[in-house]
Amino acid sequence: MKDSHPLNNDPVYLRKYQYQDAANLEARIAIHKRFSTGKSEWNDFVFDLLELREGMRVLELGSGSGALWRVILGRLPDELTIFLSDFSLGMATQAVAGLTPDPRFHVLCQDAMALVFPPRSVDLVIANHMLYHVASRGLAIANISRVLCSGGRLVCATNGPGHMRDLDELLAEFEPAYRGMHAMSSSFNLENGEEQLRPHFALVELVMYPSDLWVTDAAMLAAYAYSTPLVKATISRARQQDMMDFFQQRIAQDGGIAIRKQTGLFLASKPLD
Ligand SMILES: C[S@@+](CC[C@H](N)C(=O)[O-])C[C@H]1O[C@@H](n2cnc3c(N)ncnc32)[C@H](O)[C@@H]1O
Repeated sequence: MKDSHPLNNDPVYLRKYQYQDAANLEARIAIHKRFSTGKSEWNDFVFDLLELREGMRVLELGSGSGALWRVILGRLPDELTIFLSDFSLGMATQAVAGLTPDPRFHVLCQDAMALVFPPRSVDLVIANHMLYHVASRGLAIANISRVLCSGGRLVCATNGPGHMRDLDELLAEFEPAYRGMHAMSSSFNLENGEEQLRPHFALVELVMYPSDLWVTDAAMLAAYAYSTPLVKATISRARQQDMMDFFQQRIAQDGGIAIRKQTGLFLASKPLD
């Protein structure tokens, strides 16, 4: 299954430009952190679903700069072994800088399609918002299943097809050339993810994260827009100030900009031997 936008599955583009470092990702995380309407903060919501216990071996794929762990660090059991793994050297380097003084963390630069871990060597794999980037997802999911022990779990977050569409519509009003475009990836989403996990996992459950956005900062929203490959490709950087003014007008008129989200996590378990 190909993505709605080819750059979303292009490893060279992803490593060299989109995720060369954490800047694009951080512009997006900042909006969600500050303007989400949900009751619980995203990382707290994820933390509860991980069900971490003493002695567990955890592998996170596409871990970026390790942002999840920096938020939940104070709540981790003492005896964890956590492998953070990303195919971008820039991301892995930022994760090393932020987390490796803590002996529980080990950072690797590796592709999710070619995991170097022995069979049945980890208890939990986390793959949040990354499987839709993997060119050969079947291979990555087979690899995840191979490295998980009997009864092991995969936790993977993704979005639904309507996620952030309100922003696409706003951008199309601002720039007609953007009309009909959708920045979000569609190759592994809340609607088609389960059927891709099923061949390898006995049990697959979807847990939704109920939250939307109410944005009141025009500059942050423009920075978010320009962090996505589609906006970068369609709307010249020289128009960033115009975009901010356009967003600011809406905020002044309505008090804020409402953007609906669709985000959830698949919890998948391997059968017990
Ligand atoms: C959208 S970011 C998500 C980061 C983090 N998991 C989070 O939820 O905030 C996607 C991350 O996956 C990484 N990535 C994409 N394709 C990958 C692959 N085939 N193997 C390993 N990492 C990959 C990117 O470099 C990037 O850091």
